[in-house]
Amino acid sequence: MNKYEKIELPYSYDALEPYIDAETVEIHYTKHYENYVNKLNKVLEGYEKYTKDKSLEEIMKSIYKLPKKIRYDVIDQGGGVLNHSLYFSILSPTPKEIPEGVLGEEINRTYGSLQNLKDEINKASINQFGSGYGWLVVDKHGKLKVINTLNQDSPLILGLKPILNIDVWEHAYYLKYKNLRAEYVKNIWNVIDWAKVESLYNKK
Ligand SMILES: [Fe+2]
Repeated sequence: MNKYEKIELPYSYDALEPYIDAETVEIHYTKHYENYVNKLNKVLEGYEKYTKDKSLEEIMKSIYKLPKKIRYDVIDQGGGVLNHSLYFSILSPTPKEIPEGVLGEEINRTYGSLQNLKDEINKASINQFGSGYGWLVVDKHGKLKVINTLNQDSPLILGLKPILNIDVWEHAYYLKYKNLRAEYVKNIWNVIDWAKVESLYNKK
């Protein structure tokens, strides 16, 4: 049986202070994220022939090949795993603040400036009704796109490659920011590491 696991947190719980508080990171990583991993592994028990030698990304990209009985649980729980793996991996206490190289050029070509892109992602994240994510993704033609998604839906289902996300479930910010989602979204840019986003963008 393929067991899916959390990524190692590449920083300590308090490393993202003051922008994201230690208690939030700890609960988010050790409870919410872990819960998705455990539930996903449970859902997939007995379905080894669909998961054997497959990454979770591959399963998500061809989600409609899974039996209906487990498909929507895998979208929820598997999406919860993938989305959190990305979220925790692109944050850093010592982030690269400005994207360079091909991604940097593509951002300027598509959005005019990094600030314009951030504004778009902020809008998508703040306006996501209920729980979900704001995203920067790459479409099948290699173009950058800003989208938002509901619950734990993964852009992979839509044929899009995610390279940056902002988790706007209340569990990601409520302890520190209470109802002020926009404040959290504005502040998270202080800990988003463009080096990580670049490497995802450059990965074929
Ligand atoms: Fe979350």
